[in-house]
Amino acid sequence: MKKIISVCRGDGVGPEVVNEGVKVLKIVSGYTELDFEFKEAPAGGEVWKKFGSNLPEQSFETIKNSDALLFGALGLPDLPFGVAESAIMKIRQGLDLYVNLRPIKLYDVLREKCPLKDEFIGSGIDITFVRENTEGLYKNVGSIDENSAQNLMLYTRKGCERIIKYAFEFAKKKGHSKVTSVDKANLLKTSQLWRKIFQEIGENYPKIQKEDIYVDAFCQWLIRAPYKFQTVVTGNMFGDIISDEGAFLIGSLGMGSSGNINPGKVSMYEPIHGSAPDIAGKGIANPIGTILSVKLMLQESFHSHEIGNEVDKAVEEALKEGRTVDVKSEKLKTLSTEGMGDLIAEKLKNRLIK
Ligand code: IPM
Ligand code: MG
Repeated sequence: MKKIISVCRGDGVGPEVVNEGVKVLKIVSGYTELDFEFKEAPAGGEVWKKFGSNLPEQSFETIKNSDALLFGALGLPDLPFGVAESAIMKIRQGLDLYVNLRPIKLYDVLREKCPLKDEFIGSGIDITFVRENTEGLYKNVGSIDENSAQNLMLYTRKGCERIIKYAFEFAKKKGHSKVTSVDKANLLKTSQLWRKIFQEIGENYPKIQKEDIYVDAFCQWLIRAPYKFQTVVTGNMFGDIISDEGAFLIGSLGMGSSGNINPGKVSMYEPIHGSAPDIAGKGIANPIGTILSVKLMLQESFHSHEIGNEVDKAVEEALKEGRTVDVKSEKLKTLSTEGMGDLIAEKLKNRLIK
């Protein structure tokens, strides 16, 4: 059956990387039993300039009526804070996308691009961050005046339970032996509730080891012994921060992928990098973050694990031949965004027709 994929290209490098994601989806559509149709759903800063809304009603309707959303990046340097970016929050809240799944895996071929010394990389990096995606400081409850500003950090039992349960189920599915919970329970009330619920839910998973770490210590361990972690579950703000730190460890922020998920419902897949206005229009952005987000879409929304793994292998093969400038190697061709997408698409096609 035909699946409808809504496409939001966004601002800056967004349209450039989304083109390559669509290219890969078209290969999947052409060479597997999956069949896709694409529908544009414009949002972001450029759209705001034209229509006075960063997420026109028509776009949200298109997204709601699709099977999944492929998303680029939002933000323009000449707009005030949040004018473009708040569209992401409207989608996350509007579709109740409470899971933000952010895997970071260091490919062997990129080991030399990891900023850590080899002894710290150890047996390798393969971590999945499960970030709570609708609560905490992101509820947008707050105020600001000349002399003070505040934001409410609100977590509900329901919100904590569902994300922590998701993380344990995810770990079980992946065969992980440990789930790490990152919080700030030595200070924050919200983290104290979170930790209590982590322990409660954890009791239902006797075979999985449970570990609690304060966020500051976690940031240190992430660069000192990243091989220790498998599934890591955390709140919204901490997840935002540690997932950027994590993505840099796999060679470049441009490699980081994510899924904003409500299991069984319309979910949104996007690279974790931003609109990168400084390199927009130059054709040098790394499309792999978007292409690996397509992999997540195939696996999490369309339950096509094998095809998703083929996308992963195609990326790994391509990285042995050519790279965008952010992960370039003296010995290999330096490719444009489009060149990198073409190479991955070709590798994928060859794998799928075998
Ligand atoms: C991300 C981004 C967003 C966030 C911004 C653009 C609002 O940094 O997806 O990580 O903070 O969630
Ligand atoms: Mg972020």
